Amino acid sequence: MPPTFVIFGASGDLTSRKLIPALYKLFVKGRLPSGVRVVGFSRSKFSHDQWRESLAETTAEFVGDGFDKGKWTEFAGHIYYHPGDIGEAEDFATLASFLSEVEEGKPCPRVYYLSMAPRFYEPAIQQLGASGLNDDCDCPRRVVIEKPFGTDLESAKRLNESVHEVFKEQQVYRIDHYLGKETVQNLMVLRFANTIFEPIWNRNYVDHVQITVAEEVEVGSRAGYYDSAGVMRDMVQNHLMQLVMISAMEAPVRYDADAIRNEKVKVLHAIRPLDERAIRKDTFRAQYRGYTACEGVESTSRTATFSALKLWIDNWRWQGVPFYLRSGKAMSCRTTQIVIQFREPPHKLFADSPKNLGESNRLVIQVQPDEGIQMHFQTKVPDAGMKMRQTDLDFNYQQEFKSKMPEAYERLLLDALEGDASLFARADEVEAAWKIIDPVLEGWKSSDKPTLYMYDPGFWGPDECTEWMREQGRDWFDTC
Ligand code: BG6
Repeated sequence: MPPTFVIFGASGDLTSRKLIPALYKLFVKGRLPSGVRVVGFSRSKFSHDQWRESLAETTAEFVGDGFDKGKWTEFAGHIYYHPGDIGEAEDFATLASFLSEVEEGKPCPRVYYLSMAPRFYEPAIQQLGASGLNDDCDCPRRVVIEKPFGTDLESAKRLNESVHEVFKEQQVYRIDHYLGKETVQNLMVLRFANTIFEPIWNRNYVDHVQITVAEEVEVGSRAGYYDSAGVMRDMVQNHLMQLVMISAMEAPVRYDADAIRNEKVKVLHAIRPLDERAIRKDTFRAQYRGYTACEGVESTSRTATFSALKLWIDNWRWQGVPFYLRSGKAMSCRTTQIVIQFREPPHKLFADSPKNLGESNRLVIQVQPDEGIQMHFQTKVPDAGMKMRQTDLDFNYQQEFKSKMPEAYERLLLDALEGDASLFARADEVEAAWKIIDPVLEGWKSSDKPTLYMYDPGFWGPDECTEWMREQGRDWFDTC
């Protein structure tokens, strides 16, 4: 039976920017099950046609060059709209009848996508339960929940409890769009479909790991939300933690949702909790100059827009290998990179060896943009005695595959429709990530240590962060 994709918060930004363009592209590629239906639900009083028309404009804008009017018209035939209020039980009853009407009374799988402000998650889930829309006796019913999933461990636990009153864990798909990125999935392929990396992917050969998610953009129109979230809640608790998990996890026994997530969660459990001393010494926070002048931000705000932290993973593979995480807004460029820095050779054989051989022996996984992988190593300069310099092996997705990278949401929406939760966060995973981040947020709240540094937009964060790294005998890999 073709599935039905129901979007709660249908008139919102995420729907028009990401969800509908992703569904449209999947439709054009022929990946959506034939007969699929997309049903929007929100308070705006659209007719089906009005919603389709408004989505036609936004989809054309966000899809850009690849937008095809004819294909859109075909796709729009699958789109419906049902006005309703999350707070009104009656509206869920009418939605239930509307859904069975468009499904012609047949048992069709459904995905309920919560694309709304987080304060509406719990009420929406309760209404789904009260109206029986969660009932998966005849057919799968799945719920997709956007980030942020809670604002701390307590709230995440409460939300998980409310969700579990209505849906079984297998029905719940917590989205982290970083998992939908091809290069993040490729990290698993790189590690577990090859034999050449895994033998050296451990404390015997790796000096440290750096994970950077730098954004050039400032907070812009999301300042109101961002000021209460800051970089730790907005980026580190979710996206960076996902990257840590996939970089550090053991090979799962099978490529399936539970086997993968079991291994990922073990990484979080092995991360050494940050105590007061570690928060002072191993965490770093900063704010870009001009942030407090943004509309929606308190003029006295001490929200960090940049942070760096050093984590230790206390397990057999990673003992003694620091994982450095760094993320910020208003930085010099947009780049997401995972750098595996291997150890220096134990003995410098050549007289002309550069002082710091460590800069080579480096694997850079370029998550975005210019997706690819580079390996840096020393090479003999021809006709120059034994002089050497750093050279690269460079794999670039675009050059190799000649096709545009799909949007993360395409893969994730399709997986939700097909019932594959491998690339979604499990309840314990989200809670374990909060358990690591909570003490840092608490520590930052209650003390001036570490200092909140300032940095100018357009740089790699504050100079003090570069110094902080140098003091540890290392350098950030600052390359766009
Ligand atoms: C979102 C954050 O989850 O990820 C945003 O809320 C951030 O603040 C965005 O800009 C970054 O995503 P991407 O895919 O552009 O790296």
